[in-house]
Amino acid sequence: MAPFSIPLMTLLVTGGAGFIGANFVLDWLATSDEPIINLDKLTYAGNPETLTSLQGDARHQLVQGDIGDSALVSRLLAEHQPRAVVNFAAESHVDRSIHGPGDFIETNIVGTFRLLEAVRGYWGGLADSDIREQGLAPTGAADKPTKAGFRFLHVSTDEVYGSLAKGDPAFAETHRYEPNSPYSASKAASDHLVRAWHHTYGLPVLTTNCSNNYGPYHFPEKLIPLMIVNALAGKPLPVYGDGMQIRDWLYVKDHCSAIRRVLEAGRLGETYNVGGWNEKPNIEIVQTVCKLLDEMRPKADGSSYASQITYVTDRPGHDRRYAIDARKLEAELGWKPAETFDTGIRKTVEWYLANPEWVAHVQSGAYREWVNKQYA
Ligand code: NAD
Ligand code: DAU
Repeated sequence: MAPFSIPLMTLLVTGGAGFIGANFVLDWLATSDEPIINLDKLTYAGNPETLTSLQGDARHQLVQGDIGDSALVSRLLAEHQPRAVVNFAAESHVDRSIHGPGDFIETNIVGTFRLLEAVRGYWGGLADSDIREQGLAPTGAADKPTKAGFRFLHVSTDEVYGSLAKGDPAFAETHRYEPNSPYSASKAASDHLVRAWHHTYGLPVLTTNCSNNYGPYHFPEKLIPLMIVNALAGKPLPVYGDGMQIRDWLYVKDHCSAIRRVLEAGRLGETYNVGGWNEKPNIEIVQTVCKLLDEMRPKADGSSYASQITYVTDRPGHDRRYAIDARKLEAELGWKPAETFDTGIRKTVEWYLANPEWVAHVQSGAYREWVNKQYA
């Protein structure tokens, strides 16, 4: 992969206290001094404890706020003059969208619309010079973003494509949109808005559609972290339906490297599917987690964590299979994941075993107290 060549400026990241956004912020600032303004509403899914290592770091500023707050977003854009916006902010959990779709409509659709409008206002005011685009400015020398160099990268999901049957080819970027849950419908709507703002207004957008992520700082309502924390707590491991639904798993840091690559070299207006060719039935994921825990934290009575597996009522409208065809991203932008599923899932289980405090604070709600104290 070519080295990153964009001069130092500022990124506005939204949703950067959530699972993927926070991993992105941490990875970004581990390898670059380009500052990040992190706009996050700090819903239940936003956890500033994930960003504790950045406390006092002048390169990172966490701002509690809503992407739908046009005045706030416009002020942040005017003040910090970012060269790009990376939009992670969303309601992300399918089960929650089934029980209460309102927040998904509000943030994922209306919020994205308001964010796009604020960004359009800002981008429209940028100067036309494309000195940075042509690589004429030495690194660090350009301190103003240009209209031509500006990017709006929208982070989306493979769920917009609907469900595959066994044997169907994996989702390519040309696959029709067939979202089935309130969550995926709201993300599909946001993707369409982003596309339309490019087509109609010329906003320089990029969209990524990624498969299921897993890794450090994953909120334990999602399958893999829920299985780890429930297993350790001696609780049931709830597998929906027959457990034979297939998801395509990608280690979160590989998703972050893909976003970075698309931000750097993606073609304007294009969408890129992100995935690591790791299709697995849910029950196999749960069994793998149990085997790793049996090895790393054996139970005192010698039984396997797999004995805690419990089949429960299926999720309504449960999509049967997702699979990502990532050839466009691989061929066009030279991206490759660094982890296999075996290495990534081992690292993930190790991370949860090594970070019981992070988990305990999420489970007890203590991470909310921290939020209230900092941002009251
Ligand atoms: P998450 O739920 O862990 O984090 C979402 C973050 O957005 C939280 O910090 C939350 O506080 C913030 N947020 C919510 N509403 C907001 C608003 N109105 N304004 C500002 N901030 C707000 O989600 P995640 O798993 O990190 O997903 C991030 C993005 O990636 C989402 O857009 C999601 O659709 C997409 N995605 C997720 C996966 C996955 O497997 N988790 C896969 C593909 C795409
Ligand atoms: O495909 C990308 C999507 O992956 C993202 O866009 C979403 O934001 C993210 O939440 C994730 O959605 P899923 O619904 O696939 O993830 P979840 O972890 O909720 O569930 C994964 C699979 O495991 C799914 O088939 C449902 C099943 N499951 C989930 C839970 C929480 C269970 O069997 N038991 C459970 O307790």
